[in-house]
Amino acid sequence: MNAAIRAITRSAILYGITVKGVYRGFRGLITDEIESFETQHVSNIVQRGGTVLKTARSEEFKTPEGRKRAYDTLCRQGIDALIVIGGDGSLTGARLLAQEYNFPIIGLPGTIDNDLYGTDITIGYDTALNTIMECVDKIRDTASSHDRLFFIEIMGREAGFLALNGAIASGAEAAIIPEISLEKDQLAEMIEHGFRKSKNSSIVLVAESEVTGGALGVAERVKKEYPQFDVRVSILGHLQRGGSPTAQDRILATRMGVAAVDALLDDQRSVMIGIQNEVIVHVPFAKAIKNAKLIDRELLNTLWIVSR
Ligand code: F6P
Repeated sequence: MNAAIRAITRSAILYGITVKGVYRGFRGLITDEIESFETQHVSNIVQRGGTVLKTARSEEFKTPEGRKRAYDTLCRQGIDALIVIGGDGSLTGARLLAQEYNFPIIGLPGTIDNDLYGTDITIGYDTALNTIMECVDKIRDTASSHDRLFFIEIMGREAGFLALNGAIASGAEAAIIPEISLEKDQLAEMIEHGFRKSKNSSIVLVAESEVTGGALGVAERVKKEYPQFDVRVSILGHLQRGGSPTAQDRILATRMGVAAVDALLDDQRSVMIGIQNEVIVHVPFAKAIKNAKLIDRELLNTLWIVSR
């Protein structure tokens, strides 16, 4: 996210536009936590995790009164366009504000979950994926030394992109993801037909979700139905959201930040900047938020083949 903030600031200043940073997202818009940003404000941040602008969830912004207060702040501050970086919730808020006040807003997809329609990847996803891969590599040492079956819970809210690609990258035996849980009993299939007989340890990535039951839910079931396994659970949690971003994430965020300023200068509004087949695209907010991003079946098949 910092790479995006840097790119937006530097690109806008180059075009002679005054930049202001809004701290703590929509909450900061309501409470007027806003500061002028010069080029030096974004020096030395491209390599840092988190966000120098901080972030917060705002219940008040979900109400019309909250958005009115945010709009009043924008007017008072003399702000005439906004770039919002965030996931589904942030873009939904941006869309409402843009509609209600006819305000120019461009969105950038910033979420580790990668669950926004219209973009192949989102800012933060690649870094989280690499962290997951490193963690699973480490857990594998215990799994194989002790002949254990590990269920590792992966973030994603209701999306399985991190769990599925994390499983492929780390050589895990399977991924249990919400998109597929509705179609079949992934656990039963995996245990009854899945595990290679020559293996005595296994790692399964479970996407956090009410649908999958999370790693604890799956492990409980295994203990009851398949007591022969020595089961352990590991929940990676917020480890997945931190750390220095990968090169891919820094480049993606920088390209998207520059593209967001270009879009505003082209009089675009209410679009999210996306990337498809390496090309920057503009996706209407309505599509990015409402359309479901589907899991690629080819990836599922790939994991199935290599884990036999
Ligand atoms: O949406 C990003 C995400 O990291 C999800 O994967 C996760 O469920 C959630 O945010 C965690 O949010 P919080 O930090 O508020 O617990």
